[in-house]
Amino acid sequence: MAEVVVAERREHVGIARLNRPDARNALSIEVMEMLCELVEAWDRDPEVRAIVVAGSDEYFAAGADIKAMRERSFQEALVNPMTSYWPRLASVSTPMIAAVSGYALGGGCELALTCDMIVASETAEFGQPEIMLGIIPGGGGTQRLARVIGKQRAMELVLTGRRIDAQEAFRMGIVNRVAKKKEWLDAAVELADVIARRPPLAVRFGKQAVLAADETPLKAGLDNERRLYELSMGTEDRLEGMSAFIEKRRPDFKGR
Ligand code: HXC
Repeated sequence: MAEVVVAERREHVGIARLNRPDARNALSIEVMEMLCELVEAWDRDPEVRAIVVAGSDEYFAAGADIKAMRERSFQEALVNPMTSYWPRLASVSTPMIAAVSGYALGGGCELALTCDMIVASETAEFGQPEIMLGIIPGGGGTQRLARVIGKQRAMELVLTGRRIDAQEAFRMGIVNRVAKKKEWLDAAVELADVIARRPPLAVRFGKQAVLAADETPLKAGLDNERRLYELSMGTEDRLEGMSAFIEKRRPDFKGR
């Protein structure tokens, strides 16, 4: 039987493809566990410098597995690992790009929002339809959406369950780039590849510093940025980057 998450490598970019076509890539425990283990293993591998999380042409992910959720009692829901996967993915230091074609709904939308950037196909549709099922988002949707698009708009999407297309998501700032129908994955990998060619330690510091903008007051975020900047000044790669600039040659970054 095919794996529910398929791993692929293109040079320094790791591509994790959700592969549960019969259920529109619904995020079962098995899918989320496998995705987390794969991404965490790549996070420990210095050869992997950027990660792309993708689905298929038709669907990124239709959310958590409603059939499994339907059978879960309240007590079981309290100890179920489902809500632990999004924080695990959010702890990854390697930059992550969601490549979204087709539906990214519920937990699928939250998975895309947990990534650092989103490249969408013109066919992509985003939404938090949980309200229609009698629940609310549980994978960070209310918080990440509100931080990205603002309270008013997040409120509307969470309380109505309305789906938005790629262009509307782009206008709201959810999506970094909208790519043509057949080009979405290549566009995401291209962006990942640009990042993968940058000095890896500085990339990690940069990700950490930008994330702090969401998570800390300004003063703490600025203090954190200064410390990370100072750390970047301690790397061999910054000497290489600065020397290469002065010597008018391409830098050769080593991740040290
Ligand atoms: C389980 C799902 C599923 C899901 C689709 N399927 N989405 N199974 N969980 N989230 C199954 C259907 O039951 C069906 O199975 C098969 O996939 C095809 O689905 P259709 O609906 O027939 O396909 P289509 O008409 O193409 O519509 C696609 C769709 C729709 C728009 C994506 O399936 C849909 O609305 N899905 C649910 C979206 C949703 O509400 N997501 C939020 C989930 S809650 P059979 O057996 O009939 O062939 C959530 C909470 C997160 O995400 C909490 C995180 C902690």
